Amino acid sequence: MRVLIVGSGGREHALAWKIAQSPRAEQVFVAPGNADTAREGLCENVPIAADDIPALVKFAKASRIDLTVVGPEAPLVAGIVDVFQREKLRIFGPSKAAAQLEGSKVFCKNLLHGADVPTAEYRVFRDAESATRYVMDRFNADEQSCPVVVKADGLAAGKGVIVCSTRRDALEAIDRIARQREFGAAGKQLVIEERLDGQEASVLALTDGRTIVTLPPAQDHKAAYDGDAGPNTGGMGAYCPAPLVDERMMRSIEEHILVPTVHAMKRSRQPFSGVLYAGIMVTPAQGPKVLEYNVRFGDPECQPLLLRLKTDIIDLMEATIDGKLDEIKPPQWDPRPSVSVVMASEGYPGDYEKGRPIRGLEEAAAVPDVKVFHSGTALVDGQVVTAGGRVLAVTALGNTIAAAKLQAYTAVKCIRWQGAWCRKDIADKAMVQADKRKR
Ligand code: AMP
Ligand code: GLY
Repeated sequence: MRVLIVGSGGREHALAWKIAQSPRAEQVFVAPGNADTAREGLCENVPIAADDIPALVKFAKASRIDLTVVGPEAPLVAGIVDVFQREKLRIFGPSKAAAQLEGSKVFCKNLLHGADVPTAEYRVFRDAESATRYVMDRFNADEQSCPVVVKADGLAAGKGVIVCSTRRDALEAIDRIARQREFGAAGKQLVIEERLDGQEASVLALTDGRTIVTLPPAQDHKAAYDGDAGPNTGGMGAYCPAPLVDERMMRSIEEHILVPTVHAMKRSRQPFSGVLYAGIMVTPAQGPKVLEYNVRFGDPECQPLLLRLKTDIIDLMEATIDGKLDEIKPPQWDPRPSVSVVMASEGYPGDYEKGRPIRGLEEAAAVPDVKVFHSGTALVDGQVVTAGGRVLAVTALGNTIAAAKLQAYTAVKCIRWQGAWCRKDIADKAMVQADKRKR
C-alpha cells in the first residue's frame, strides 16, 4: 500500500513511523515532512504544503496513493476529505461538515448543548458591542472577578482562546478578537463561556460515525514553563496513559460525552469519521466536561500514544474509513506508559530564529526505549537544523511513568543546539496522581 501523510510536525512523524512499520506499507510519502520523516525507512518527503489541496490531489493520483492520512486541522476544515473522495481517493479524516466541530466553536457549543453533553455555559456574539454589553451587565458588581473564557469562533492556530480573570481581561479579549480582528475572519463571531477549573485530559477516539474505539487517555502540557506558568503553547510535552482518567471516568466520558456527540453528528447528517479528540476538563465538583473538540490526533499527544500502539494502524484506519470499527479486535497497547518531552527554540511561543544546527541526535537515539520525533526540523546540506518553535518531541517508554520520564530526559540531555530549552516537569502530575491513588 502506498500512503500519503499530510503535515510536517511531530504528530506526522509519529504517524509516518508507525505506518511504515505496517507489513502492508510499501511506501510512505510525507507532504511536506521534516528532516527525519525523509530519513525514516520507506518514507520520502514531497515538497507540497499541507494546505495546498489541489497539489495534494494531483500528487495522490499521479503516485497511485492508496491511503491519505491528514495530520493538521486546517486542510480538514478546508474540506480536503470531500475533495479526495470526489476524486475516488481513499482518505482518513472527517468531512468538511464534520470538521466544523473544530473549525467553529459556535457549531461545537451548539451541538454539545443540543446533545446534552456536559460543557461550560456559553453565549454567542456577532459583534464587539453586544459582547461588551454582556460582560458589563453580567459582571457589574466586582470588576476583579470575571472568570470567563473569550474565544474566536474559527481556527486561530490555538491562539484564539483567551482565559480571563478580571473584567478588564475580558473586555480586552473582546477588543482583540472582534474589533482589532487579531485572528482575522476567525473573529467574526465569538463565544464567551464560563471558566472551568480542574485538570485537563485529552481523550481521543477513532470513530466511523457509528462505532467508537477510545484510545488510552493522555495529558498535554499547554503552558510554556514549569508548574504550568507562562504563555500558552502548542503543547510542551505529554504522557499516556493519564492516571487522572481512570477506567470508571473513561466509561463515563464515553457514555455522556463521546457517544452522544457521535450520535448527534449522525442525526444531523454530518457523520464523523476519523479521530475525535475531546479536550476534557475534569472539574472537582461536576466531573468531566468538554472544553473543545479537535478533529485529528493531538500534537504532542499522538507521539506517546503511537509509541504504545501495537496493532497495525493501517488496519484501524481502514476500518474507520469503511465503517467497520464494530468488526475489529480492540487495539493492543504496550502496557508500559510513555512520556514525550518537547524541545523548543529560544523565544518560542514568541518569535524565534531558525537554522540552528542540532547535535547529539544519534546519542539520543541510542538511549534504550527512546524515539526522537522531529517537529520543526529541516535538512540543510546533510545537517539537521531547527525550522520551527517546537523542534523535537523526545519520547520514551518505561516500566513506570517515572522510568519513562527519566529515559526521555536522559535522551534530551544528549541533544544540543543554541537556545534549546524544554520543560523539566513533564509527567510530574501523573506521578502526583499515582501517589494519591496509593494512599
Ligand atoms: P480550546 O482551544 O477551546 O481547547 O482552548 C485552549 C485551552 O484554553 C484549553 O486547553 C484550556 O486550557 C483553556 N480553556 C478553554 N476553555 C476553557 C474553559 N471554559 N475554562 C477554562 N479553561 C478553558
Ligand atoms: N495538544 C493540543 C492539540 O493538539 O491541539
